[in-house]
Amino acid sequence: RAVAAMAEQRPASLAELNAIIARSDPFVEGGTRAVLGEGPDHAAIAFVGEQPGDQEDSQGRPFVGPAGQLLDRALAEAGIGRAACYLTNAVKHFKFRQTGKRRLHQTPTAGEVRHYRWWLETELDLVAPRLTVALGATAALALAGRAVPVTKNRGPWRFGDRPGYLTVHPSYLLRLPDAEAKAREYARFVEDLRAARALAA
Ligand code: URA
Repeated sequence: RAVAAMAEQRPASLAELNAIIARSDPFVEGGTRAVLGEGPDHAAIAFVGEQPGDQEDSQGRPFVGPAGQLLDRALAEAGIGRAACYLTNAVKHFKFRQTGKRRLHQTPTAGEVRHYRWWLETELDLVAPRLTVALGATAALALAGRAVPVTKNRGPWRFGDRPGYLTVHPSYLLRLPDAEAKAREYARFVEDLRAARALAA
């Protein structure tokens, strides 16, 4: 319903789009508010994550929790200033299951990702980055409109008309159990960010 209404009146600016997103009801179970994209309108690189996590939902900003802090560190190492980038998510609300005091992240379904896709596409049309980086499988699904296995296709990619890049989600690095694998995969992630930086230059 919200999406159909929006399609009739395509927002002319990010501010207009964000106002629509902010007053829309969550389509997933949980989230208290929409976490909007953040960054300059015509950033050279846009990063697309999965969905806001617990911290992002509480603070109302994307990538401020543990995965965001790891992303910040990797961006800095790759010589990319976070403030110059546009950061957003495929799904704008935190989907979670409450267990006691903890809010446990739930992966959005393909249908949920599809529901939010019009927002994401409109947002990226307005930002018009030179390169759109998909962080992980959910972002890849949202941007490509179909499942694209990230580990097999890691690297430069085209999302329709959009020049893109596929890499892992920083939370994948956080979940790796052993320190050696973590260090190796983190270094690879930084290399991906360096490659993305070169493509967006
Ligand atoms: N993970 C995401 O995909 N996005 C965020 O904003 C935070 C964590």
